[in-house]
Amino acid sequence: MSKVTVVGAGNVGATAANVIAIREVADEVVMIDIKEGVSEGKAMDMMQTANLLDMNTCIKGVTNDYAATANSDVVVITSGIPRKPGMTREELIGVNAGIVKQVSESVLAHSPNAIIVCVSNPMDTMTYLIHKIAGIPRNRIIGMGGALDSSRFKYYLSKALNANPNEVEGFVIGGHGDTTMIPMKRFATLRGIPVTQWLDEATLDKVVADTMVGGATLTKLLGTSAWYAPGAATAEVVEAIIHDQKAIIPCSALLEGEYGEKDLCIGVPCVLGKGGIEKIIELPLNEEEKALFAKSAAAVHKTNAALPC
Ligand code: NAI
Ligand code: 2OP
Repeated sequence: MSKVTVVGAGNVGATAANVIAIREVADEVVMIDIKEGVSEGKAMDMMQTANLLDMNTCIKGVTNDYAATANSDVVVITSGIPRKPGMTREELIGVNAGIVKQVSESVLAHSPNAIIVCVSNPMDTMTYLIHKIAGIPRNRIIGMGGALDSSRFKYYLSKALNANPNEVEGFVIGGHGDTTMIPMKRFATLRGIPVTQWLDEATLDKVVADTMVGGATLTKLLGTSAWYAPGAATAEVVEAIIHDQKAIIPCSALLEGEYGEKDLCIGVPCVLGKGGIEKIIELPLNEEEKALFAKSAAAVHKTNAALPC
């Protein structure tokens, strides 16, 4: 029996729970929120799709009842406030740090062996905060951002290439921020063939720029931050863990010397399986990429320094 808890049944949390349930990633999905009745209502609504979608996952919703989350294999943290148009992810730190601290202590009290997937923004800093307070091995705390940013990168690449998005490969490392993420254009391919075969430098640079502000573009259109792709990207990470896929997905991981950094959570390619982050892949970065990574790391360190003590 596998069990996943999603904390925060808002836009991203409920979408992640729904995708996890529809794909039957786990036997049981529990949503928990502080808003009375919201998790319960969304869980009931989702369960009423079971016969329509031939879905066999048990979805439960609770308000503030952490006992219901006990013995979860994976806990996803989406609780907190989202961006509004014009806001950066970093501006959410004051409110979200308090929420993430309280939530991670509560979930670990009931699921001491769980793998934690942090989604709340500013995600790299919230992931770092969980490392500081949880006192559990680094492989069990994973920040979700690179899975989403990579999917956006592949979306913009597929549009520029006029290609099927499923034929495109590409990934994003660095911080999950408009100016800190690093879409790795050198490694982007269409069916294994470098995209530079079809895209000139200016077009590729536009793809990179669009990817970097991908979240802000949607926030402006929607009036709040996006949820379909964030929810699906979260489900992708959870599925890789629960199904022990050994999938390579860029995630925010605590670095202990990798990429020349330590005491920092930032996006790097990770092998995800039953053990959480089972391996951090060290890419042979060129000088330009090394400089971008160092700049991104410095920016994330700076945001971490704003964490309340
Ligand atoms: P939302 O406002 O729709 O949902 C947040 C939910 O958290 C609300 O239902 C709220 O009641 C709940 N909540 C607040 N405090 C809580 C607590 N102490 N315990 C349990 N639940 C609590 O927001 P949305 O759009 O779902 O975004 C959630 C977070 O995810 C935001 O911080 C947002 O910036 C972040 N995000 C991160 C992404 C990533 O790639 N890492 C992508 C998209 C959003
Ligand atoms: C996103 O990238 C705001 O992190 C959120 O959509």
